[in-house]
Amino acid sequence: MRVGILTGGGDAPGLNSVIYALVKMLKNWKPDCEIIGYKSGYKGLYKNDYVKLTLATTSGILNRGGTILYSSNKDNLFDYLVNDEDGNFVKKDVSDVAIKNMKDMGIEILIVLGGDGTLTSARDFSRKGINVIGVPKTIDNDLGFTDSTFGFDTAVNIVAENLGRIHTTAESHHRIFVVEVMGRNAGWIALRAGLAGSADVILIPEIPYELNKVVEKIKQRDRLGKHFSIIVVTEGAKEKGGQAVIGKIVSDSPDPVRFGGIGAKIAHDLELIVKDHEVRSVALGHIQRGGEPSAADRILSLRYAYGALNLIREEKFGSMVCLKNNEISYVSLEEVVEKPKFVDPKGELVNIAKSLGIYFGD
Ligand code: F6P
Repeated sequence: MRVGILTGGGDAPGLNSVIYALVKMLKNWKPDCEIIGYKSGYKGLYKNDYVKLTLATTSGILNRGGTILYSSNKDNLFDYLVNDEDGNFVKKDVSDVAIKNMKDMGIEILIVLGGDGTLTSARDFSRKGINVIGVPKTIDNDLGFTDSTFGFDTAVNIVAENLGRIHTTAESHHRIFVVEVMGRNAGWIALRAGLAGSADVILIPEIPYELNKVVEKIKQRDRLGKHFSIIVVTEGAKEKGGQAVIGKIVSDSPDPVRFGGIGAKIAHDLELIVKDHEVRSVALGHIQRGGEPSAADRILSLRYAYGALNLIREEKFGSMVCLKNNEISYVSLEEVVEKPKFVDPKGELVNIAKSLGIYFGD
């Protein structure tokens, strides 16, 4: 049996843990099984660029951050940028080249570790007859049909830990700090880390904010003798009636918008109103994605790898492993990509935060 594995989209802590576990589990199940790791996501499938994954080459990577297979959030083979005869970039469906490469290599099963973009392509390869299994990853935790994605817990821990650090310096200087975190259009990282890290205000895309409500909270804390405040904001958050702040357009990416800058904008706007405080912003950026996975993410990765192994054993292809009510389960890739998962503004965690007096700017 020959199995291909690839990692696509933004990297997330836990990718190597899944690779590590898959290789061990597949080899223990079928010692003759050959495992091919395609490099840099789907690009590796197209270019036939791969490494053989063995017990030796994957030894010791359970706790390693990033992905030994490299990743890319640019290479959608169904809409791939190639040079035409005049040297201009044009989009072309090159998926058949990848399929031929896999067939020539004798790949019977393709395991895809990724988020929404990567899994959409996984679905499209499945529709073309490839035996695909998806494994959900993203620090943003915004994938529908799974309660959690690996990478998310690590990101939350990193943000919560950094909020502790920001607290002591903010308090020492009576400053207001706006801490921008990742998550795109989903506020999961800000919400959980904001709660765990004792933020005073949490601004998320699901709850458009009003700046005067944030000011109200700062003043309330001043009256209590708390002359500093911590505001956590998701990169994709919006002011009521406003737009998200775009940090960068990555033109050769299928999803070209990269958020960034809302923290600095809020800090600037706040300082014009809250005159008796200095307001600073800090964007935690890719620090949230780097480094070792948390123990919880390692365990989730092992559980997902085991779920994927069982789907292979049962030949349930065209599926993604998922977590439902703390049980490992699976769903069709057809369903997964249609439904992103957002924070419920009336959900338990938001209510807990509000009961603690944390403001959401609404
Ligand atoms: O989806 C994961 C994520 O880290 C988002 O939170 C963030 O908006 C995006 O990827 C950043 O992408 P890039 O690494 O291309 O800047």
